[in-house]
Amino acid sequence: MENEFIIEVQNLTKTFGKFTAVDNISFTVKKGEVFGLLGPNGAGKSTTLRMLSTLARPTKGTATIGGYDIVKNDTGVRKMIGIVSEKMIMYDRLTAKENLWFFGSLFNIPKDVLTKRIDELLELIQLTKWKNAQVGTFSTGMRQRMNVVRALLNLPQVLFLDEPTLGLDPQSSVEIRDFIKKLNRENGTTVVITTHMMVDADLMCDRIAIVDHGKIVALDTPANLKKLISGADTTILKLNIANLTSELIETVRALKCADAVTQENSTTLKILVHGDEAFDSVIDAIRVKNGKVTSMENLQPTLEDVFLHITGHQVRDSADQKIKMENHKPFARQQRRIR
Ligand SMILES: Nc1ncnc2c1ncn2[C@@H]1O[C@H](COP(=O)(O)OP(=O)(O)O)[C@@H](O)[C@H]1O
Ligand SMILES: [Mg+2]
Repeated sequence: MENEFIIEVQNLTKTFGKFTAVDNISFTVKKGEVFGLLGPNGAGKSTTLRMLSTLARPTKGTATIGGYDIVKNDTGVRKMIGIVSEKMIMYDRLTAKENLWFFGSLFNIPKDVLTKRIDELLELIQLTKWKNAQVGTFSTGMRQRMNVVRALLNLPQVLFLDEPTLGLDPQSSVEIRDFIKKLNRENGTTVVITTHMMVDADLMCDRIAIVDHGKIVALDTPANLKKLISGADTTILKLNIANLTSELIETVRALKCADAVTQENSTTLKILVHGDEAFDSVIDAIRVKNGKVTSMENLQPTLEDVFLHITGHQVRDSADQKIKMENHKPFARQQRRIR
């Protein structure tokens, strides 16, 4: 029987001097799957992708792509894969067609086959109308679609994408996500993406490996990952509170049932709680500090919550987020499942 796994990663490790960027990771990707590596900046996502696409050598461990070993048979691997790196590589002064022709000619593709393929690919990204326009005149979304399609010229079975929506406006991100899903659905291309964007991972990936400090800390479908915190007796309360004071927040943080408390704005708290008594305890604590609950919601957990829960910190590193984590109690660290 044909191997169900198109990618098998075993104990893959990359060190730079004394620093371990990728720390002994193992996972498999099924044929036809969209697989995500989700984690904050510096987690080791790009380094992992670079090793898998033979651009960097592992320090230890290895992986196979379609049965080819990334160390022993990098030529075999390269025939299987396409890579879209973080940087866009495209010549502004050349037209869409000329760019693809240039990059296509780097592969050993017969001219007539390449001509036909370029037309098909431009059709696929809905740029046929623009094929004779200079890429320099394109919108960011159009350029990124060109960038993705450039990696498809050799009809790869596996497409690696490093942060495909990084720096894109919301509309362009939607375009790219849709395109990648379509490519996966219609051509059966196996896709591995890296991202630090929760929404990318959630909307695009069949399975997600959450990466932190070079390690895989959880691996599952988005739905199952969310069950990690919505399951059992854990839930997220979103409360609007009149008279929200720092003293009140500290009191809530000190509650046994509160696992993480984040302040969203001057009147809103998000509290990850566990236990039957949680609801009463929280309300009591707020009353004691003269707070008045004006509304309350029971939230569905997002991947962001999952990440926070598992790692104890946020995936975003932006300082403008007012979320505070000092009181995070990683009680569920032992519960995390790695499949
Ligand atoms: N060539 C290199 N030399 C030294 N350190 C590196 C090199 N490449 C990456 N790193 C370090 O390895 C860590 C992981 O980097 P990277 O894989 O780019 O993370 P991510 O893509 O998840 O943001 C970072 O701390 C980065 O600074
Ligand atoms: Mg990166």
